[in-house]
Amino acid sequence: MSKSIRHRLSQHHGFASSSLIAVSLVATGILLLVASMASAQQKKSPPPPPPAKFGDPLPGLTGDQLAAFNDGLGEFSDDETPSSGLGPIFNRDSCIACHSAPAVGGSSDIFVTRFGRGTHGSFDPLTALGGSLLQERAIVPSGLEHVPPQANIVAHRQSTPLYGLGLIEAISDATILRGVRTGRNDGVKGRAAIVTDIASGKNLVGRFGWKAQQATLLSFAGDAYVNEMGITNRLFPVENAPDGNLALLKKLDHVADPEDKFDQVTGKFGIDKLADFMRYLAPPPPLPPNASNIFGAKLFLDVGCASCHTPMMMTGKNSVAALNWQRVMLYSDLLLHDMGQLADGIGQADAHGNEMKTAPLWGLRASGPYLHDGRAKTVGDAIEGHDGEAKSSREKYNRLRHDQQKLMAEFLMSI
Ligand code: HEC
Ligand code: HEC
Repeated sequence: MSKSIRHRLSQHHGFASSSLIAVSLVATGILLLVASMASAQQKKSPPPPPPAKFGDPLPGLTGDQLAAFNDGLGEFSDDETPSSGLGPIFNRDSCIACHSAPAVGGSSDIFVTRFGRGTHGSFDPLTALGGSLLQERAIVPSGLEHVPPQANIVAHRQSTPLYGLGLIEAISDATILRGVRTGRNDGVKGRAAIVTDIASGKNLVGRFGWKAQQATLLSFAGDAYVNEMGITNRLFPVENAPDGNLALLKKLDHVADPEDKFDQVTGKFGIDKLADFMRYLAPPPPLPPNASNIFGAKLFLDVGCASCHTPMMMTGKNSVAALNWQRVMLYSDLLLHDMGQLADGIGQADAHGNEMKTAPLWGLRASGPYLHDGRAKTVGDAIEGHDGEAKSSREKYNRLRHDQQKLMAEFLMSI
C-alpha cells in the first residue's frame, strides 16, 4: 500500500476499521522486512544501509540538525552542580543518569516516587506538602523530602526510554483522536489526554509519560529539568520547596531563577537543546526479520493486543524531512485506558488514577523490567498485570498454548 493510499484510507474511514488496518499494517511491515531480506540475498543489489542503533540520530538529518542533536546530547549528558542551579531538592544531577540503557536516551533501573491522597475517586496531589513527585535528594541533608503521613497512595515509576520520541511528537492530534473507539464489544475504549502545553499555551493531545501528561518534548524537557534536577527554566521558573516548606527553600536556594542558561552561540536555552536531542533521536532498531515472527505477530493481533498497542501511525507534514510523513512502528494508540488494578492511583494532568497511557512496545527487548512500576520481569508477566479494559485480551492470551505464547513473546522481543 502506498503512503498516499494509506493516508487517504485513514482520512476517509478513520480508525473505525482499526483492527483491519492494524492487520494490514503489521502484514505490510513484515512483508517489507521479508522483501528487504530477499533483496539483500540477491547478490546484484547493494545491501541496505544498516539501521540506526540505540542512541543514534535519526537517519536523513541535515548537517544543521545533526549539529543540534550533538549539542543537545552534550546538554543531556551534562552533570549539574549546586552552583549551576542543581536542587535544592532533586532526583539526579543529569538527564543521562536516568536515561542511559542500553545507550544514551534509554531507560534505567532508577524509579521515581509519586504520592498523594485519594478519596472517593478524587485525587489530591498534596502540592502544599511537596507532592505529587518526591525529590529524593537535596544539596544539604536538612532539605531532604519525605512522603507525608497524609499520603495514602505511593507509586513508583520507571524511567522510560526516549528513542523515537520526535516521531511520536510529529503524529498529529487528529491521527491520535481517530484511534478513540466507541461502541466496540471487547471492552476497549481509550481516551485522548487533553493537556495545556506550557510551551505553546495550546490545548493539545498529551502523549509523553506514563500518564500522557505532556504533549511536546520542549514542555517535557522544562518539566524534567525543574522536577528531576531542580533547574528552573523559562517554562517552569519556580523551584520546588522541600516538603512544600517555602521558608526552608528560601534558606537553601542561592542561585537566581531561571537557572537554565542561554547560549549566545546557538541562541538556545538548555531546554531547547534537550528537546532537539530527543526530537532527533532515532527509534529503537527492530531485530532482523525472522520468519516465525509472522506467526507471533498474528497471535498478537488475534488476542486483541493491537486494540491498544496500534502497530503503526504516520507522522503528519513536518518541516524536518526525517519526520515528514514517516511510518512510526510504536505499538501504541497513545490513549489513556482504564487499567483497573494495574493503574497507579495517581491523577496527573488529564489522566485519572485508574488510567494509564498505552505503553509503546517498540524496543521492548532493551527496556525491561516492564509496566510503570517495573513489577514484570517478562512480557508474559506484563500481560498478566493487564486489567480493566485489557482484561478480555489478557484472558484470550491465557487461552493460547504455551508454544503460541512463546512465539508471541519472541515477536515482541524483535520489534
Ligand atoms: C531521576 C530520574 C530521571 C531524571 C534525572 C530524568 N528523567 Fe526523564 N523520566 C524519568 C521517569 C521516571 C520517567 C517516566 C515519568 C512518568 O511518566 O511518570 C521519565 C520520562 C521522560 C520522558 C517521557 C518519555 C516518554 O516515552 O513518554 C521524557 C521526554 C524525559 N523523561 C526527558 C527527560 C529529560 C530531558 C531529562 C533531563 C532534563 C530527564 N528526563 C531527567 C526519570 C528521569
Ligand atoms: C486496553 C488496552 C490494552 C490492551 C488490550 C493491551 N495493553 Fe498492553 N499496555 C496497556 C497499557 C495502558 C500499558 C501500561 C500499563 C502500566 O504500566 O501501568 C501496557 C503495557 C504493556 C507492556 C509493558 C510495556 C513496558 O514498557 O513496560 C507490555 C509488554 C504489553 N502491554 C503487552 C501487551 C500485550 C502482549 C497485549 C495483548 C495480550 C496487551 N498488552 C494488551 C494497554 C493495553
